[in-house]
Amino acid sequence: MSSQGDAAAEQDSDAVGPCTETDVTIGDIITVTIGATVPTGFEHTAAEEVKEKIGVDARISKDRGRIYFPITTDKLFQVHLLRSVDNLFVVVEEFDHYQFKQSKEDTLMELQQLASKLPWTNALEVWKQNGALKKKKSHRRGGNTTKVKPNNEAGDEVVADSEQQEQSEVLTAAEGQSKPEGTPDSETREQEAQEAAPEAKVIKFRVTCSRAGDKHSFSSNEAARDFGGAVQEFFQWKADMTKFDIEVLLNIHNEEVVIGIALTEESLHRRNISHFGPTTLRSTLCYGMLRLCKPQASDIILDPMCGTGAIPLEGAIEFNSAFYIAGDNNDMAVNRTVNNICHIQKRRADKGSHPGLPIDTVRWDLSNLPIRTSSVDIIITDMPFGKRMGSKKKNWDLYPSCLREMARVCRPGSGKAVLLTQDKKCFSKAISRMGGLWRKLHTVWVNVGGLHAGVYLLKRTTAVFGQTPEDVYESQGKVDDKDDSQHS
Ligand SMILES: C[S@@+](CC[C@H](N)C(=O)[O-])C[C@H]1O[C@@H](n2cnc3c(N)ncnc32)[C@H](O)[C@@H]1O
Repeated sequence: MSSQGDAAAEQDSDAVGPCTETDVTIGDIITVTIGATVPTGFEHTAAEEVKEKIGVDARISKDRGRIYFPITTDKLFQVHLLRSVDNLFVVVEEFDHYQFKQSKEDTLMELQQLASKLPWTNALEVWKQNGALKKKKSHRRGGNTTKVKPNNEAGDEVVADSEQQEQSEVLTAAEGQSKPEGTPDSETREQEAQEAAPEAKVIKFRVTCSRAGDKHSFSSNEAARDFGGAVQEFFQWKADMTKFDIEVLLNIHNEEVVIGIALTEESLHRRNISHFGPTTLRSTLCYGMLRLCKPQASDIILDPMCGTGAIPLEGAIEFNSAFYIAGDNNDMAVNRTVNNICHIQKRRADKGSHPGLPIDTVRWDLSNLPIRTSSVDIIITDMPFGKRMGSKKKNWDLYPSCLREMARVCRPGSGKAVLLTQDKKCFSKAISRMGGLWRKLHTVWVNVGGLHAGVYLLKRTTAVFGQTPEDVYESQGKVDDKDDSQHS
């Protein structure tokens, strides 16, 4: 973490001159700080995963939803295997207490001057190594790598982005004509072309600024524009908002300023789902929920309202010694889950790995599950919030009947439930009437698409089902009309 003075002092030792992609050699092992955005509320879970898988301590940012940790670049590949992180970046510089100037003009001027004072070298080396990693990973599919024409004209070198490649077309080196991908020698020729004229590549970049705090005299657009202009001038890169090779991040949160270079093009939360539904949960959030209930080998885990199957699918991939049953009362949801499972299985088969996943899908109604009493170890689900799915009014009946049926199938004494909902009022009321069957252990407050929601960890009490007053459920018939009309 630097002060502004340090950054200026670093100018002599660390600042780099204008650089092209070819200046950086692949393979040097260096230590850098990686930043990761994570689902808000699950920062500690993400830090735990980093410790477990990479063996280093992560720092949780004051700016919620971010963690930072040091790595040596030989661990870069492992960073991409983390399941709790959405986006990754390498830190160029951090300022814990950046003293912004009073006037907008002075502040923007200072941001411009900052561009040439920053220690870019290591972060650019990591970006370079990260690109090579991605190329290796996406070698067969064409991936998101940029393509280079050898006899190019200035500004026109970069010709393909990921979407164009998805349409199975690449520009051939010789004629600049479209040719179907998969032509036997196309990848080799392209590689040869890059090797023959590496100096020809002009790096395209963009700056993305995210800003939070009410004491700033400038907007995020203004900061991105002025800082970006200075970056362009310093490196002689070309600005391109859509087909960029490098995304420079300028994160400003009150007095905290972090400059980074993005290492992911698309959030890692989309990794499992090919068939999205109206309320598909981010896989990173699913991972956090799964970690909360600590799945063990041979556990039977139920998602009784699975939607697209995001939670059990993440479980079946990451905690695969348990067995998952995904159910929903909606045909379309069940179909989406089946399609998502098939898609992952096909992807695995294509890669030559074992395609099987420990998961089954069933169409059912949660208030009457075709499951034996006391046979399930963990229930993990994302309940209808009553906004885009269901209604707040219906939740007054649905939630108590869910909790009751879940208590029936869950093992007394050891069973657990991890339930996500934004309808906190209704949930709290329902759970307060189920004290004989469920004990609330912990709540994690999360942000789901801008909504403040709770992930509740419940423990099944030792009470045998059928012997507590809660077992005989009668609809309370309670309707909070005011609340319902405001939100549903
Ligand atoms: C918030 S969505 C779940 C979204 C899911 N986590 C995903 O990532 O796609 C809630 C789901 O509960 C289902 N549902 C509502 N009432 C149900 C009931 N009585 N039995 C089973 N499923 C129900 C809905 O069809 C919906 O798919």
